[in-house]
Amino acid sequence: MSATNEQAFAGHSIALTLNGQTRQVDVQPWTTLLDLLREQLDLFGTKKGCDHGQCGACTVLRDGKRINACLTLAIMCDGAELTTIEGLAEGDTLHPMQQAFIKHDAFQCGYCTPGQICSAVGLANEGRASTDDEVKELMSGNLCRCGAYSNIRAAVVEVLPSMNAAPDQGGRGQ
Ligand code: FES
Ligand code: FES
Repeated sequence: MSATNEQAFAGHSIALTLNGQTRQVDVQPWTTLLDLLREQLDLFGTKKGCDHGQCGACTVLRDGKRINACLTLAIMCDGAELTTIEGLAEGDTLHPMQQAFIKHDAFQCGYCTPGQICSAVGLANEGRASTDDEVKELMSGNLCRCGAYSNIRAAVVEVLPSMNAAPDQGGRGQ
């Protein structure tokens, strides 16, 4: 490989705030945020269901907004504030959305669940849903093959009012 090619394939250093911690990482231009999280940073909570933006299992929060990590290049996250499912709880205290998912039995296999919960927190930050129908429509980007949809909606509808009252960047609603 020529020196020029070696330079072309060298990693690019980016800085991001991940679950409240500043991280400096080297990424290739083609590395997705999803692969950065799972393969370089050992954060396996964010799931890869399709890698094509069609299932929502990879949903994380960027500056409080929900995004598909599989459609986001890591290099595009330089300077971003990211929250993954691992960053929602505070110590042993679950985020209210996590608690509600357990209370309402809103998962079975659990593979879609991190994306569902991150998406629901993002939905709360958007502040534009409160009814069951609105939640159904605005959570429709997160597929669940176990069919937990009605329980997921029950969990989300229960938590939204308290989070809408105190939206925050992706962490805990009060
Ligand atoms: S893995 Fe990203 S949407 Fe399916
Ligand atoms: S809980 Fe299994 S896919 Fe949703």
